[in-house]
Amino acid sequence: MEIISKFLVSVILFSSTLITCLNALSVNYYHQTCPGAESTVAKYVKKGLLNDRTVPAALLRMHFHDCFIRGCDGSVLLDSKGGNQAEKDGPPNISLHAFYVIDHAKKEIEEKCPGVVSCADILALAARDSVALSGGPTWDVPNGRKDGRISKGNDTRQLPFPTFNITQLQQSFSQRGLAVDDLVALSGGHTLGFSHCSSFQNRIHNFNEKTDVDPSLNPTFAASLRQVCPVHNKVNNAGSFLDSTPTVFDNAYYKLLLQGKSIFSSDQALLTTSTTKALVTKYASNQQEFFEGFVKSMIKMSSIGGGGTEIRLNCRVVN
Ligand code: HEM
Ligand SMILES: *[C@@H]1O[C@H](CO)[C@@H](O)[C@H](O)[C@H]1NC(C)=O
Ligand SMILES: *[C@@H]1O[C@H](CO)[C@@H](O)[C@H](O)[C@H]1NC(C)=O
Ligand SMILES: *[C@@H]1O[C@H](CO)[C@@H](O)[C@H](O)[C@H]1NC(C)=O
Repeated sequence: MEIISKFLVSVILFSSTLITCLNALSVNYYHQTCPGAESTVAKYVKKGLLNDRTVPAALLRMHFHDCFIRGCDGSVLLDSKGGNQAEKDGPPNISLHAFYVIDHAKKEIEEKCPGVVSCADILALAARDSVALSGGPTWDVPNGRKDGRISKGNDTRQLPFPTFNITQLQQSFSQRGLAVDDLVALSGGHTLGFSHCSSFQNRIHNFNEKTDVDPSLNPTFAASLRQVCPVHNKVNNAGSFLDSTPTVFDNAYYKLLLQGKSIFSSDQALLTTSTTKALVTKYASNQQEFFEGFVKSMIKMSSIGGGGTEIRLNCRVVN
């Protein structure tokens, strides 16, 4: 009997280690240990949004950035320390903002349930709330991510560049277990927010030897971008919204893309294969299909495993 129970205990221990190793996430992860966690995150995202309409875009992008570098482990939230330049300060300087929303949520959650809820999970929840509060879909976020201890500025080179063509984009996504349908659906995140001139100047100045302007851009739209970004200039706060309704999560991004009114070469690239173009067309004509595809792909992206090991007490510093 004792042998059997010892055996069972080791099976259970082994399975739970395995689960931890696989970084298995689950919905209702904090149901017992911190039931107020999700509503606290939603409260601060909402507060942030009421104060500053650019907060949802910032949080959605922050989560994407987190997951694409070292998996979703909160590495994007760490501050530079001593000689180490963190991701958030890394070149190319990627204009992340609204970190305070995560800090405020974390602080209140730590008061309620200390040492329980990871920063990576708070960011995943905040991204979901950002979409939902902007008029987009909502979904249950699987939780249980652990926070990592490493954040390196140099790692931002691993993010896809806005100049990427379809081959490069597919490669960047497949390295993270994401397929072409995920690429098309997640690019729809560009229904929210803003870009600086530096991220799209390749399309409007010296495009190639033959032409200054990317011929796939709508000429009137290109002219308006050139007006905002008149010179090839990297240190410029000017730029463009990513679609015509930058605070509303809708399918306008895809409609504009089909009209030659997307911002990045990487957006335009989605029209260069028949598979990806078909998905763009589907999402442009049916917002509900976009929402469903987006949710499915977000859950996949936010499950990219990281090497996290701890529940950080302060999202900006390792324990
Ligand atoms: C497909 C590859 C992607 C590329 C090449 C890319 C590139 C970029 C670039 C260059 C910016 C503007 C940075 C600046 O100049 O300020 C940007 C903004 C943004 N991206 Fe992406 N991105 C990609 C995928 C995604 C994904 C998967 C999401 C989320 C699901 C996302 C969400 C956003 C949002 C919301 C903004 C606006 C941020 C703000 O206004 O603060 N992007 N992206
Ligand atoms: C990133 O931008 C911030 C604020 O604009 C600036 O203080 C910092 O030096 C920049 N870092 C790099 C690597 O360009
Ligand atoms: C920076 O990143 C690049 C590409 O990811 C890598 O090849 C290079 O070795 C890194 N440099 C340092 C100093 O870590
Ligand atoms: C994308 O760019 C890479 C690198 O420049 C190149 O090797 C590849 O052929 C390009 N693919 C397409 C579809 O243009």
